[in-house]
Formats: sequence, structure tokens, C-alpha cells
Amino acid sequence: MIPLSIPHLGGNELKYVTDCIETGWVSSAGAYVTQFENMVAEFSECKYGVATSNGTSALHLAMHMLGIEKGDIVLVPNITFIASANAVAYTKATPVFIDVDPDTWQMDLDLLEEWLDENNGVHVKAVMPVHVLGNMCDMPRLMDIASRHALHVIEDSTEALGSYWNGKSAGSFGAMNAFSFNGNKIITTGGGGVIVTNDEAHAKRAKHLSTQSKVNPETYYHDEIGFNYRLVNILAAIGVAQMEQLPEFIKKKKTMDAYYREHLNGVGDIKFQKVVDEVDPNSWLFTFYSSKQSEILAALKENSIIARPFWFPMNQLPMFTEHEYYTKNDHARDIHANCLSIPSSVNLIENDLQKVVEVIKSVF
Ligand SMILES: Cc1ncc(COP(=O)(O)O)c(C=O)c1O
Repeated sequence: MIPLSIPHLGGNELKYVTDCIETGWVSSAGAYVTQFENMVAEFSECKYGVATSNGTSALHLAMHMLGIEKGDIVLVPNITFIASANAVAYTKATPVFIDVDPDTWQMDLDLLEEWLDENNGVHVKAVMPVHVLGNMCDMPRLMDIASRHALHVIEDSTEALGSYWNGKSAGSFGAMNAFSFNGNKIITTGGGGVIVTNDEAHAKRAKHLSTQSKVNPETYYHDEIGFNYRLVNILAAIGVAQMEQLPEFIKKKKTMDAYYREHLNGVGDIKFQKVVDEVDPNSWLFTFYSSKQSEILAALKENSIIARPFWFPMNQLPMFTEHEYYTKNDHARDIHANCLSIPSSVNLIENDLQKVVEVIKSVF
């Protein structure tokens, strides 16, 4: 079996976890949490990191902290993983979905601007760009649009640790931005997240809110409604070991991406996700477009190779069918119907990649 995107725990994970167990520091306090927060913040060129239980809680907490609430609108791309839209829904704000660019699969910023111009005066509070598959949304342009319309920016950079726009890291543009360390991500803690920010007050409050707004560790006094969203030390220990290997992982992902692009180029009607010159992507999960999506998925399954169709567009999910979706050509529908992700774990060997390519070629 060739898996889709599984963890590679080949560094100091066991050593650091053993340290947690031997010292008893397995839970909510412990040095690995701070170390992990600092490593992620430094890597993504932000001043502060606050570890959370997962990327979804990081997104939710960021929005809660920016005061997003019932009656507000948050603009979200129609192609994303459900967690982006769910995080908006948790605040009771309303997500409005914007169609994506047919080539890069990121939020279409022409449509975003048009929607904002047409809806001048409605209570739009924030925009959540999502760096889909570790490729990036045009952040300089998005920041400019957001500042002209006085919108908060929360980057869903959950998939983009190690991606850059003109040398500036994903997660370093918005006010408070989220990374995920779910098992399929470029590094993992099993499950986990980090909010990154350059604002010290935001970082302090995020830490406070994520730990039930506990004022004093010796008493049970809490000064506002908080959340149990912290990451535990034993998982942060895995995160520290994974961060040590991140540069190596990114290199491997890029090599894999180059292999697939070389060997699938010109095969049938296969098209790749466009990466514009400004972007240096982390090449997290190789995904391509073909009208033979279902045939390729079936052939891969037959050969015990795990692949997945791309996410359902948000507007096609029952919770969101009544929500506004701003589009001209519904590119999201086309991308969902034709794209698929193929094995991209860092520990795949060339034989695995060859096998995947062979099976895909056999369909045409
Ligand atoms: C685009 C996107 N947003 C949000 C999340 C949520 O992260 P988590 O699974 O850690 O809650 C993920 C990953 O799963 C994701 O891919």
C-alpha cells in the first residue's frame, strides 16, 4: 500500500516523548510547549506563537479574539477544507464564499474586490485567505484590499508552513494566523495547531483564552469565558522533533513535486496547479486536474495506492447551501469534479513514485 500523506517520525520524537514521560511533564505545562511555539513563530517569521489543540481551534480562537461575532460577515474561499468555514460558523458570524482562481485554486481576488465594491456598507469584518495545498494566495494584494475595506485578515496557513510570497512567509501577513499539525501536514504533532502573530497583546490573550482564561494557577479564578484549546507537552515534544526536520521535509516534498511534474507532464489532459513566480511553495500535497478523475482514482485504488478527490466546495455542503456564494463561472465546481491528490509522504521512495505515475499513465 502507498499511503497519501503520512507522518515521518525519524528524528528525536521518541527521545523527547520519553523525556516527558520520565519527568512526568506530559500535560498542559512543560518546556516543550514554549519551545515549539517559539520554533514555529521563528520559522514563520512572526514574533509570537501560541500552541493550540489543532488548526481548527487556532482559527476559531483567532476570530474570537478579533471580535468576530453574530451579524458579521467573513469572506472565505469556496475551495477549502471545511474547518475554515466551520471556524467562522463557531463565532456565529456568516461566511460568504468567494470562487477561486481556475489556475492557482486560491481565492479569486478580482471577485473579492468586486463583491466588496457591490456590498459596500454591509457588516464585513474579516477575510480568511487559505493557502490551498501550500501554494499561496496573493497576500500583498489581499492585504491592500483588506486595508482599503478595513477588514481583519486571518490567514488559514494550516497547509503552508514553509511557503513564501516573495520571500515573506505564509502566516506572517495577517493579524493572527493559523498552522495545523494534523497527521497529514508537512510536520505533525499527531494533532495540534499554532496561532502566530506579531502582536504581543494578542499573543498573551490567546494564551490566556486557550487555557480557560485562568488568572492564577493556584486558584480557580477565571476572568472571561475561555476555551480548553491548549496543546499538551507530550505532543509539543513531538512537534519540536518534527520542526528540527522541517527543512529536510520541505526539500523532499519539492523533489517529489518536481518528479510528478516531470513525469505527468503531457499525460492525457492532466493539468497542474499553477504556482506563480512570486511563490516558493512547500509542495505539501501533490494534486492535479484531469477529466479522468474518477477513472484515475479507481485505478490507483485497485493498485493499493491511496488518493483522494479534492474537497467539496463549501457551497455544495448542506450547512452552507443557503449561504451566499459569489462566482461568475463556478470554478470551484470544476476543480472539485476534476482534481485529485496523490501520495506525497516525505518517506516515499522513487519506486513508489514510479508506480503511482505508471498507474496514472495506464488510464490514458
Ligand atoms: C485548509 C485547512 N484549514 C484548516 C484545517 C484544520 O486543521 P486541524 O485539522 O488541525 O484542525 C486544515 C487541516 O486539517 C486545513 O487543511
